[in-house]
Amino acid sequence: MNIHHVLFFCFASALCGGNTRLVGAKLSIYTGAEGGNGSINCHLTLSGSRKFFCKDECKVEDILVKTDGDRAQSGRFSVEYRNESSGRGIVTVTITNLTKSDEGRYRCGLGGTLVPDSYTDFEVRISDAALFDGKSRFIHSDTEGENITFPCSGMVYRRRKFLCKDECKKEEDILIETDQDRAENGRYSIEYIKGSVFGLYVTITQATRSDAGWYKCGYGNASSPESYHRKPIIVVRAPTTPKPNWTLRPFSTSVPSASTQATTQSLSSSSGSSVPPSALPETIQQSTGVEYI
Ligand SMILES: *[C@@H]1O[C@H](CO)[C@@H](O)[C@H](O)[C@H]1NC(C)=O
Ligand SMILES: *[C@@H]1O[C@H](CO)[C@@H](O)[C@H](O)[C@H]1NC(C)=O
Ligand SMILES: *[C@@H]1O[C@H](CO)[C@@H](O)[C@H](O)[C@H]1NC(C)=O
Ligand SMILES: *[C@@H]1O[C@H](CO)[C@@H](O)[C@H](O)[C@H]1NC(C)=O
Ligand SMILES: *[C@@H]1O[C@H](CO)[C@@H](O)[C@H](O)[C@H]1NC(C)=O
Ligand SMILES: *[C@@H]1O[C@H](CO)[C@@H](O)[C@H](O)[C@H]1NC(C)=O
Repeated sequence: MNIHHVLFFCFASALCGGNTRLVGAKLSIYTGAEGGNGSINCHLTLSGSRKFFCKDECKVEDILVKTDGDRAQSGRFSVEYRNESSGRGIVTVTITNLTKSDEGRYRCGLGGTLVPDSYTDFEVRISDAALFDGKSRFIHSDTEGENITFPCSGMVYRRRKFLCKDECKKEEDILIETDQDRAENGRYSIEYIKGSVFGLYVTITQATRSDAGWYKCGYGNASSPESYHRKPIIVVRAPTTPKPNWTLRPFSTSVPSASTQATTQSLSSSSGSSVPPSALPETIQQSTGVEYI
């Protein structure tokens, strides 16, 4: 399972293995539910023992939490640290009791002095609770106009493949049902790529905000699948503020996690850190992708 997560993240983020962010790279956006909590794991190159969680760019007044310890909290903001592997660490940042005013850009980082030397940035959006399945967490969000691709992971191959919106209870929920390796219906397509990591991939082109919702894809008949995967999609407006000063920096991926146990769970990590299965409902495991930072 963890392998899948790791691979998924590589797939989703196109940045596994990379350790530098390119100028102008895309900022990841996470959506949380108003009143809920959300956590993000930042996998960072070690560059000091001080952990940072900041709004914007970590100028002095931006710092929400700064600590030399392994955990610290300041009001609704907290940081927890654990070593990942040689040369890397995970800074998990959490915001509780999310409010609309939490929307904006954040930075989590590690460093030795006043500012983080290695860091990763992400953007937070807040929405109503509808998509969150009662769970309090951040969901990685796609932006309008993008093509969204996600894998249907961890399943047993069958010739018949399907894609549904929602639960597939109604005929109109079924977007695609096919015995072919590839099928398309308007902006939706599904493709089985033999020999690929996940096998089955879904693409939604030119995402609109009304694409938001739960998707279900898998093998077998849509109405009686043999195996399937559920994934929440949130489509948000592209960031409005141009991002200044993208620099070439060590960085790494981060991942939202289920937040009630938030600070200790991650959905993935680039080293494949383990996660209690209970923390990983199928529906979450791909929700996030990682930062496309
Ligand atoms: C958010 O986290 C706080 C502190 O851990 C907890 O008391 C609260 O119940 C959580 N809220 C939700 C919606 O999970
Ligand atoms: C979050 O909200 C809960 C319930 O409203 C409250 O008990 C708790 O103190 C709040 N936590 C913070 C850190 O504000
Ligand atoms: C991580 O490793 C460093 C150096 O090896 C050590 O000082 C620190 O206590 C470790 N932190 C945790 C949370 O294990
Ligand atoms: C999305 O996919 C369509 C069809 O494959 C392609 O023509 C288009 O250039 C893609 N758009 C983006 C933003 O990648
Ligand atoms: C799928 O549906 C077809 C036609 O409706 C039916 O013949 C077949 O038995 C179903 N397969 C499964 C695995 O339910
Ligand atoms: C962006 O970079 C320029 C030149 O390096 C610097 O003067 C400016 O303060 C930076 N702006 C921010 C917001 O960091």
